[in-house]
Amino acid sequence: MNIINATLRKTSGLYTVRCEGERISAITLQNASVAAQPGDIDAQGQLLIAPLVEPHIHLDAALTAGQPEWNQSGTLFEGIERWAQRKETITHEDTKQRAHTTIRMLAEHGIQHVRTHVDVTDPTLGALKAMLEVREEARHLIDLQIVAFPQEGIESYEGGRELMTRAVELGADVVGGIPHFENTRDQGVSSIKFLMDLAERTGCLVDVHCDETDDPQSRFLEVLAEEARVRGMGSRVTASHTTAMGSYDNAYCFKLFRLLNMSGINFVSCPTESIHLQGRFDSFPKRRGVTRVAELDRAGMNVCLGQDSIKDPWYPLGNGNILRVLDAGLHICHMMGFEDLQRCLDLVTDNSARTLNLGEGYGIAEGRPANLVILDADSDYEAVRRQVKARVSIRGGKVLMTRVPERVEFTAA
Ligand code: FE2
Repeated sequence: MNIINATLRKTSGLYTVRCEGERISAITLQNASVAAQPGDIDAQGQLLIAPLVEPHIHLDAALTAGQPEWNQSGTLFEGIERWAQRKETITHEDTKQRAHTTIRMLAEHGIQHVRTHVDVTDPTLGALKAMLEVREEARHLIDLQIVAFPQEGIESYEGGRELMTRAVELGADVVGGIPHFENTRDQGVSSIKFLMDLAERTGCLVDVHCDETDDPQSRFLEVLAEEARVRGMGSRVTASHTTAMGSYDNAYCFKLFRLLNMSGINFVSCPTESIHLQGRFDSFPKRRGVTRVAELDRAGMNVCLGQDSIKDPWYPLGNGNILRVLDAGLHICHMMGFEDLQRCLDLVTDNSARTLNLGEGYGIAEGRPANLVILDADSDYEAVRRQVKARVSIRGGKVLMTRVPERVEFTAA
C-alpha cells in the first residue's frame, strides 16, 4: 500500500510512504503531486502523522456520569461521592462494555496508543481483571497500557501494598501511585519508595498521580524525581497532573526544575480536567490549577497532554477527541505563540509516545509499524485551529477507519 501526496510534520514537500505487510518500507520525497494508482491512498497534501496518543485516561470510570446521580457542584469531592454510588452496581461486563465503547471513541479520533489507570484499591481487583481482557480484545484498535492505580492509597488503604503487587503479577504494565492522597507526608514518601521498588524489581513503567491538588506544600514530585534519578529510571517514570506546581513559588520551582531536568522523568497534564477540578477552594483571584506545561517544555523536559476522563463523575464532557484537549491546553497554558502552534501536535503525538516508552514501535520511519493517520490539515497550526478530525487511520498496514468529511451547503439567496 502506498500513501501518496502526504505532508510530513517538520519537513517540506510531498512524500510517498510505502507500507509492506505491517511495516513502513520506504519514505520517498516526490518531485510533484502524483496521480493515484489502484490501491493507493491519496493524502491530497494533508498531514500524515503517527497516531495520536492518549497517555492518561481512566477507562474503568468512563461513561458513568449521571448514574445514578449527576455531580451538581462539579467538585472532586462530590465526584468521589457519586463514584461510590455507581461503584455499587459495577459488574465485570459493565466495565468491559464501557471501556470498549470509549476505546472506539478514541480510535475514531485517530488514537492508537492508550494508557489507562485502573483502580486497584479493591480486594477483588475486578476492574483490573476486566481491563486485562479488554487489552487483548481491543488490540485491533489500540495498544493499551494498564496502570495499577491505587485510587485510595497504597499505605492508607488496607492491604494496599499486596494489591499493587498482585496487580502487577496479574499483568499490569505500569505501577501507579497517589502520594498526596496518603494520610501523612511520611506515608506519601514511603508509597513512592515502595512503588519504585516494585517497578524496578518487575521491569514495569511508572506513572504516578502526583500532587494533584492546589496545595503548594504538596511536594511529592521532588521525591519521585529523586528516586528516578538515583535509580537511573527517569525515562521510564511519569508524573501525572503535578497541579500543585501551578501553586509553587518561583524560588522553589527554580530549585525543583534542576532536579527534574537531571531526573529525565516525563510529565502528563490533563488541562481540561484540572481547570475544572482545581481552584475550587479559591474565590478570586482564582488559580488555574494546572502544572507549568510551557515552562517544563521550554526547559527541555518531556511533557504531553491527556484527557483523563470521558463523561465520568469527575468530568461530564469529553468525546475521545484529544485535539479538543490540545486546543484547551494551549489556551490554559499560555502556549499560543506561533512557534508553539507550529509544533503543537508534539504534545499529543511524539511527546506522549516518549512518555509511553513506545520507542521504535512508533513514528514514521522505515521499518516501524505501519500505524498512520491522515488529518484534514496541512500543518499543526491548521489542525488545531480548525479542530480537524482524522480522515483515515491505518493500523498494521491496513485501513482501520475512514471518515467522510462533512460538507456544508448554503442555500442560494
Ligand atoms: Fe487521572
